[in-house]
Amino acid sequence: MIAPSPRIAPSMLSADFARLGAELAIVDPGRDWLHCDVMDQHFVPNLTFGPMIIEAANRLTEAPLDVHLMIERPWETLAAFRAAGADHVIVHFEACPQPAAVLRAIRATGASAGLAIKPGTSYAAAAPLLPELDQLLVMTVEPGFGGQEFMPAMLEKVRAAAADRDRLGLAFAIEVDGGIHHDTIGAARAAGADVFVAGHAIFHAPQPIRALEALRTAVGA
Ligand code: DX5
Ligand code: ZN
Repeated sequence: MIAPSPRIAPSMLSADFARLGAELAIVDPGRDWLHCDVMDQHFVPNLTFGPMIIEAANRLTEAPLDVHLMIERPWETLAAFRAAGADHVIVHFEACPQPAAVLRAIRATGASAGLAIKPGTSYAAAAPLLPELDQLLVMTVEPGFGGQEFMPAMLEKVRAAAADRDRLGLAFAIEVDGGIHHDTIGAARAAGADVFVAGHAIFHAPQPIRALEALRTAVGA
C-alpha cells in the first residue's frame, strides 16, 4: 500500500470564533482537513466545544472534519459527533481501556477511526492497534492548548510508525499535532508524517491564507 498524500489540517482551536465563517473560508475542501479539538476539562485542563459547534463548522466548510476528542469516556459520544458531521473521529489511547473496541465502534459509524497518543505514551503501546485504525495521531505537545513548543523527540514515534506501515503493508495516515509551523514541518514530513495539524501558525499569522499556502508548499500538499 502507498502512504496517503500529504495534507494540512488547520486547527479551528486557534480561530476567532466571533468570525468563524470568514476564518474557515481559507480551508480548501479539496486539499485540507479541518481539525476540531474537543476538550472536556477532565482528560485535559481545558474546555472547548462539543457536537453543536462541529455541526456549525460542518455547515461552514465542505472540508473533511477531523475531530480530535480529548475527553474521557469518548465511546459514549461517538454517535453524536458522527451525526454532527465528523468525518474522522480520533480518540486518545490513554482514555480508552479497550481501544480496539472503540476504534471498531468508530468505523461502524462510517467515520474514519483515529487513535492519538500523548507525549508520555510509547509508540509500542499503540502499535498492536495499527490494523484497527485509519489515522495515528502523534501529539507533538502535551494536549490541551494551542501555541506550545514542538517536541522533536516525538518524531521517533513517527519514524517507527512509518516503518511499520511499510513493513505491514498498511495505509493509515500519520498525523502530527502541536507546534507545527514553518520551522518544524519539514522535520515532521521527513520523519514520515502525512497530516500536519496547525493552529497558531495559520490563524495567528498576519495573513492566514498565505501561512496555510506556505505550509502546503513545504510538504507538497
Ligand atoms: C492541542 C491541540 C492542537 C492544537 C495545535 O491540544 O490538539 O490541535 O490546536 O495548536 P498549535 O498548532 O498552535 O500548536
Ligand atoms: Zn488536536
